[in-house]
Amino acid sequence: MNSLEEVARAVRQCTLCPLHQGRANAVPGEGPASAEIMFIGEGPGAQEDRQGRPFVGPAGQFLDGLLASIGLTRQQVFIANMVKCRPPQNREPQPSEMAACRPYLDRQIELINPRLIVTLGRISLFRYFPGESITRVRGKLREKDGRLIYPVLHPAAALHRQELRAAIIDDFRGIPAALEQTRRGGHVPESPAVGVANHAPTTGLMAPSIPMDEKPPEQLNLF
Ligand code: URA
Ligand code: SF4
Repeated sequence: MNSLEEVARAVRQCTLCPLHQGRANAVPGEGPASAEIMFIGEGPGAQEDRQGRPFVGPAGQFLDGLLASIGLTRQQVFIANMVKCRPPQNREPQPSEMAACRPYLDRQIELINPRLIVTLGRISLFRYFPGESITRVRGKLREKDGRLIYPVLHPAAALHRQELRAAIIDDFRGIPAALEQTRRGGHVPESPAVGVANHAPTTGLMAPSIPMDEKPPEQLNLF
């Protein structure tokens, strides 16, 4: 698989795990190969399965709002999932399913080589930090296997719970600073040996970030 398109093609034909049986559409993930930030969710839900696109249901609308709150659009980032086919009844993907699906996500990460990986929720957090408490590590930049990982809560979990909504908005407000830290190749707590990605100098992508002392834009109150 030598390009993101090839990965997507392989995913759409994949029968490596039982999840292929229930899918209407596989959801390879989407975004530019040049994305500096990669978001990793859990797996497709009903809307995603219907459309073959990641985060297009209610959690996806919330994600769009969260991205907007830090001056980003989904066209600027790559959005993927741990498994590319919808688990029945939206249950959590099983370890065997994630293992079968792993080469696709591994290859997407290799091809994109993002500066920053944002894990959405517990399941993708465990890809890098198995068994870690999301409450403990969310909103903190960490290094693992030469990659910079910034764990946040899952938008679906925060969607209907007011107290988690404030928390996930906070998590997202830390993304610009985390990205800035990766650009400087700066010190990451608990892991001083930070590998610097091979991206060219940046293009001011994150410029419109929200100063920490301001409230998020009004639009987030609509969710
Ligand atoms: N939740 C996820 O984890 N991924 C999606 O693509 C949609 C909802
Ligand atoms: Fe293949 Fe992944 Fe879909 Fe399983 S979830 S069938 S491994 S693409």
